[in-house]
Amino acid sequence: MTFFTEENLELAHEIIGRYPKQRSAMIPLLHLAQEQAGWVTEEAMKQIGGLIGTSSAEVLGTCSFYEMFKRHEVGRYVVNICTTMSCALMGAEELLEHAETRLGIKAGSTTSDGLFTLEGAECQAACTEAPCLQVNYRHKYRVTLSDFDHLIDELADPKNEGTPRHGVLAQIRQHIPTERSVGAMHPESVNAPPVWIEEQKEANS
Ligand code: FES
Repeated sequence: MTFFTEENLELAHEIIGRYPKQRSAMIPLLHLAQEQAGWVTEEAMKQIGGLIGTSSAEVLGTCSFYEMFKRHEVGRYVVNICTTMSCALMGAEELLEHAETRLGIKAGSTTSDGLFTLEGAECQAACTEAPCLQVNYRHKYRVTLSDFDHLIDELADPKNEGTPRHGVLAQIRQHIPTERSVGAMHPESVNAPPVWIEEQKEANS
């Protein structure tokens, strides 16, 4: 069974080609899977295992270690409200309660239209900007209750293009041409600069 689309499968091979060891591509491929579906499905983990020569159990071991990889369907927008100390002191509890009321769901669940997943979260490393939250891991600082309502209105607007859907990390993707990839080779076997550097030197001489 294949999970990746034809286009993403091609991209997956390009990504694998950037690393001396195929297994090093596991996390970038998990991101690619999450970008494609919005979460990481079992089929995706199986295919990633096959692509990098490891078991799907190992892929699951890595995927389940990182909270940002979701192994269940989530909303288009994952809203994480920080509830750790600085944010708690600045009204995070009230903000989370307000968010639950506004969205009509409890933290840890998804609205019936599939637009929003609401989560309480640990410190987001922006304590001086408390209370803060993230939408698809993009920070919003010093969020008031009315800021929150405004944010939800903006995100719910079908014309909203400011925040990409969950799983999309960057809107511009780096491409490394095949002739510049390192190829799957153990680091200790690398005893010369990449071939393309020599080719470039020759072309410039
Ligand atoms: S306590 Fe909320 S960002 Fe650190």
